[in-house]
Amino acid sequence: MLTLKEVKKNPLVLEFIDQAEKKMEAQHYTDHGLNHSSLVAARARTVAREIGLNSKYQELSSIAGFCHDFGNFLSRTYHNYLGALVFQQIFAAYLKPKELSLVMQAIVNHDKYEMDFSDKVSAVTVLADKSDVRRSRVTIKDIKKIKSDIHNRVNYAVTAGKLGIDKRKKRITLSLRIDTNFVPVIEYFEIFTERMVYCRKAAQFLGYKFGLVINNFKLL
Ligand SMILES: [Fe+2]
Ligand SMILES: [Fe+2]
Repeated sequence: MLTLKEVKKNPLVLEFIDQAEKKMEAQHYTDHGLNHSSLVAARARTVAREIGLNSKYQELSSIAGFCHDFGNFLSRTYHNYLGALVFQQIFAAYLKPKELSLVMQAIVNHDKYEMDFSDKVSAVTVLADKSDVRRSRVTIKDIKKIKSDIHNRVNYAVTAGKLGIDKRKKRITLSLRIDTNFVPVIEYFEIFTERMVYCRKAAQFLGYKFGLVINNFKLL
């Protein structure tokens, strides 16, 4: 079966991720390039493993995590659909029909308008993606510009984060440390409530409760 290691070496994939990164950076979005892709891939594999999915599902989840945003190189709008179709064009010959369709679904399902789960690969990919908030995702260097945009401001405020999985308690918890001098917790909520709803929906599909802890306060 196709592995993440092979996907990471594919020149088309690497070019598309690189172009997506440039395109998003030009629009002052947070990191949607290689760092984000690699982090989501690694996190998806960890989540899949920790909740007890088999090695095939772990591999498929990490591949979906790595490729979920590369459709942005064509267009931000519909990047999830475009990404899934591009993935199919590159890898149709290397995956069985079912494996291919699960990864394609996961790429499509990671965006809010399609967030409907019928398979665990999609739910794991969404958890890995939507939990990626961190200072290093901010690509702008100018602190004034960071402060003027709420998405950048809120990501910049997150100085540490961790997605923890408690299999016994059936709980997946995102713990964040937020610099409240930079952004008040309420502002974090304004921006991330939607994301947290997606995480909760994905966790629920996997049979887990989703928890959110900010600065050691349990909020969910
Ligand atoms: Fe995306
Ligand atoms: Fe993403």
